[in-house]
Formats: sequence, structure tokens, C-alpha cells
Amino acid sequence: MNKSRIVVLISGRGSNLQSLIQHAERYQIEAVISNKPNVAGLDLARNAGIEVSAYQRLAKGDISHRRQIYQAINQINPDFIALAGFMEILDADFVMQWEGRLINIHPSLLPDFRGLHTHQRALQRFNESKGRQNQHGCSVHFVDVAVDAGPIIAQAVCNIENGDDEDQLAQRVLEQEHRLFPWVMNNIASNNIRYSNANVNFTKQATTEAQHHRFVTQADI
Ligand code: GRF
Repeated sequence: MNKSRIVVLISGRGSNLQSLIQHAERYQIEAVISNKPNVAGLDLARNAGIEVSAYQRLAKGDISHRRQIYQAINQINPDFIALAGFMEILDADFVMQWEGRLINIHPSLLPDFRGLHTHQRALQRFNESKGRQNQHGCSVHFVDVAVDAGPIIAQAVCNIENGDDEDQLAQRVLEQEHRLFPWVMNNIASNNIRYSNANVNFTKQATTEAQHHRFVTQADI
């Protein structure tokens, strides 16, 4: 079977990108595009022999760099786009153009904690609930025009421990991100996870694998 061609968008250190590179079985990464030049993730991609480019905002309110990103993606015409720590909101017409083929990872159990500072907010909730609300984690979802929304594909859960600080918790979640994202992308690439009319469907095989990995899927939510 032909591998699916994907483009990965990043903004920073690229640890999720690294995990996508390491676990690329049913997809191949055609290009990595950043909205920040000189970030570690671009070096990771270059070292893996992947084509890279960066388009940066030049002035406040300027969106021409985003148009360049869209153009670059359209030229490559990938099967899927993975947002791996891409810290910029994409324009609605681009999101609609790529409906069902645009996938994001977010460091919380959505719909909890959309937006930024997810670990800090999870810790605050943990403390306020006197340790009762001790579950946190990450979500991979199809992107729609609302920020950090869109059909959830799968989640990986971890516990918040007494005494955790934000960095410790972020690290624990990141380990889960590195397991979850490539697994989802491989299954989308092999058509074992499918998007249809804002619904996510799993084949039997993908469901079994998700259970084996202890990922939470729509069937469990
Ligand atoms: C990850 O926590 C991701 O979920 C969030 O931004 C962070 C990116 O980290 N959207 P990295 O660049 O993949 O290391």
C-alpha cells in the first residue's frame, strides 16, 4: 500500500515532530513548515532529510506569511496535515478546505482547557478539588474553525500526582503525546481511522489497538 503523504506544521522545539518521524510507518513526511525561523524542530527535520521551510510574520496584523504557508501546502498537496505544536490560528477558509485532513495535538483532555497554559490550569483544578480531579492528558482531534475544537479522535490520560509542578506535569503529558500522535497518524494514513461528516470512525482493528494502548476514543467518551 502507498504511504500517505503528510505535511507537519510546527512552531518550536519539535518533540512531537521527532516522534512522528521516528514512528512513520504508514505515512511519509513530505515537508515540515514552521511559522518561526531557527527553531529546533527545523533542525530535527533537516537532520532526517526532510524538506523544511519557514514563513514568519513580518509586522503586527500581517497575515501574508500564512498565505505563503497555505500556498506551500497546496503545492505539495499532501493527504493530511499534522499540527505538531503549531501555535497560530489558521484561517477559516483554509481549515474548511482541509476538513477531515487537518489533525492537531493539544495538551489537555478536551473539551477541558482549550487554549494556552493547560498544565497550570489542570494543576489549579487539582488543588481546588483537593486532589479529586487528578486526570490530565492530551487529545488528538480533527481541526474545525473553532480553536482547539473539532471531533476528538483519541486521548491519552495520565494522573496528576501530589506535589507536581507545571514542568513535571508537562513532561508526563508530553510522553503521552509522543505515543498518541504517531499512532493516530498511522491509523489515519492506513484508513483505519476515518473522518466522515464531523464523525470519527474506527475499524475493529484500530479500536482493539486503542484499547491495548489504553487510549480513550469516542466510544469511551
Ligand atoms: C505540545 O505540548 C503540543 O501538544 C502543543 O505544543 C507543544 C509542542 O511541543 N500544541 P513540541 O514542539 O512538539 O515539543
